[in-house]
Amino acid sequence: MFSPVQTNLFLCCFLIKLVNCKLFNVTNIMENKTGIINELLEKRFSPLAFDHKPVEEVKILKLFEAARWAPSSRNEQPWRFIYATGNDRAAFDNMLETLADGNRIWAQNVPLLILSIAAKNSSFNGKPNYYAMHDTGMSVGNLLVQATDMGLYVHQMGGFDKEMARKNLDIPDGYDPVAMIAVGYRGNAEDLPADLQKREKTERTRKELNDFVFKSRWKEGR
Ligand SMILES: Cc1cc2nc3c(=O)[nH]c(=O)nc-3n(C[C@H](O)[C@H](O)[C@H](O)COP(=O)(O)O)c2cc1C
Repeated sequence: MFSPVQTNLFLCCFLIKLVNCKLFNVTNIMENKTGIINELLEKRFSPLAFDHKPVEEVKILKLFEAARWAPSSRNEQPWRFIYATGNDRAAFDNMLETLADGNRIWAQNVPLLILSIAAKNSSFNGKPNYYAMHDTGMSVGNLLVQATDMGLYVHQMGGFDKEMARKNLDIPDGYDPVAMIAVGYRGNAEDLPADLQKREKTERTRKELNDFVFKSRWKEGR
């Protein structure tokens, strides 16, 4: 039989293998403590509770600088942004007014609102740019990562009146409002009304990889 020293050696080797093998990672994914993806992506979520603390001007510029460097089809850069801070209350309220009631209730406290806008047509041939929404979303994706890296949180909203936004913010024909984006530092969930507190504390869920990743070809109901 093996001596105690040999047994310990085998055990150590087995543990080292376990730590390195894929099985170990899979176990962690199932526990939802991945540690596999970038920590900024893990940290990001869409809060309802925001602090009143203003977002520093330099950070606002960095958000748009990050958006600026997003890739886009034919490098068209179809995204446009309009923003207002709580310090300019008239401009801020002009954007706030467009929000659906359920969004305005919490977004009235955020220090920064941004509207993303997409140029509808290609600057190359004037035809509809199929990728305009995709590319605008990509630039917002960059903005999200930059925001998270600077300790900020972002909550995007589709729930707003697009026509009112067009009117209130002088958006010309040829451009479509895409998403309203609330940005700020994290606030205290306890400061929210009870129903929003409940929402804020609800566990985040996602589809399984199997439900949206198909190898080789489309496979439904696997
Ligand atoms: C285009 C878009 C529109 C959204 N619209 C709203 C909205 O109107 N109101 C809201 O509370 N959240 C809205 N959300 C936030 C989503 O509900 C949220 O991203 C999703 O539940 C996943 O949660 P997470 O961002 O915390 O991971 C929107 C998100 C996106 C990307």
